[in-house]
Order: sequence, then structure tokens, then C-alpha cells
Amino acid sequence: MSRWGLVAAAFFVSWVGGVAAPAPDLAREGESLKAVCSKCHNLQMVMDTPMSYEAWHDTVQAMVDRGATGTDAQFDDVMDYLHRTMTTINVNTADVEELGIVLGVSDATAKAIVARRNTRRFSGLGDLKSVAGVDAGSVDAKARLIFFK
Ligand code: HEC
Repeated sequence: MSRWGLVAAAFFVSWVGGVAAPAPDLAREGESLKAVCSKCHNLQMVMDTPMSYEAWHDTVQAMVDRGATGTDAQFDDVMDYLHRTMTTINVNTADVEELGIVLGVSDATAKAIVARRNTRRFSGLGDLKSVAGVDAGSVDAKARLIFFK
């Protein structure tokens, strides 16, 4: 196979696998959060206030206006970290991508969540745990982020 054939094959495999983007690195993102967001107040202030991704955008912008500094890469890390660990979600309305990011589930599982709610809306955490591929422990860990309306 030619060099380009190999590159194309690798791309195809990653595309089919749904992992074309670089694998997330939560540890590095957390370090960026610590570096950028703990200069003026402790991180507890950040951890205590889960909110929607749009609201995080506004909050981080407000911190920049107050004088928060960092590289573009660090701010990307901060937003990704907040999205994957501190963002609230309505599991009865969120799209597949948002379910995947916030709940930390695969694309297939996110689609199963949507399929399930299309027949019957979720009314509680137990409901969500009953979907194939959803990890009960992870749902419990994220309970404060999960909403049903
Ligand atoms: C330049 C100083 C500074 C930096 C750096 C900073 N903050 Fe803040 N932040 C503040 C101040 C001051 C307050 C308190 C505002 C108040 O009491 O009303 C605050 C409050 C907050 C709050 C509480 C809610 C609110 O909006 O008042 C959150 C959440 C927050 N910061 C998140 C962050 C995040 C995330 C980062 C990193 C991107 C960050 N902060 C970096 C100064 C900063």
C-alpha cells in the first residue's frame, strides 16, 4: 500500500471508530484549569457551581474580563474540562453529542438514550441507568448534573 493509502486507511479507521478527534486528556485539562482558574479564588468556587455549557462560556468570559489569563490551549482545556465534568444536562432534550460529552458515554450509548426517550421520557436516574451501555456508578457520580426537565 502506498504511503497515502496508509494515511487514508488510518483516517478511515479513526473516522469509523468515531475517534477522529484526539483522545481527551482529563488530567492535562485539569492542570490547565488549576493554572488559569485558581489565581484569584480556590477551585472549590468552580466545583460548587455546575451550570450549562453556555453559562460556562459566559462565566469564563466574565473571568477574563476580571483579569484571568492563559494561553488559547489552556482556555480550550478549561472549557473541555468544564464541559466534561461540571456541565448540567437535560437528558430528555440534549442531543447525541452533548449526551456523549457530559455523561461520558459512547456515541452508541448516547443514541440508545435518545431512542429510549423517544418512546418514553426519562423521569429519574434509575430510568437512565436502565439504558444499555449506561454505567450506574457514573450516573450516581454525575447525579447533580443530570436533569429531566
Ligand atoms: C483575575 C481573577 C480571577 C480569575 C483568574 C478567575 N476568577 Fe472566577 N471569580 C473572580 C472573582 C473576583 C469572583 C467573585 C465574584 C463575586 O463575588 O461576585 C469570581 C467568581 C467565580 C465564580 C462564582 C460565580 C460568579 O460568576 O461570580 C465562578 C464559577 C468562577 N469565578 C469561575 C472561574 C473560572 C472557571 C476561572 C478560570 C477560567 C476563574 N473563575 C478565574 C475572579 C477570578
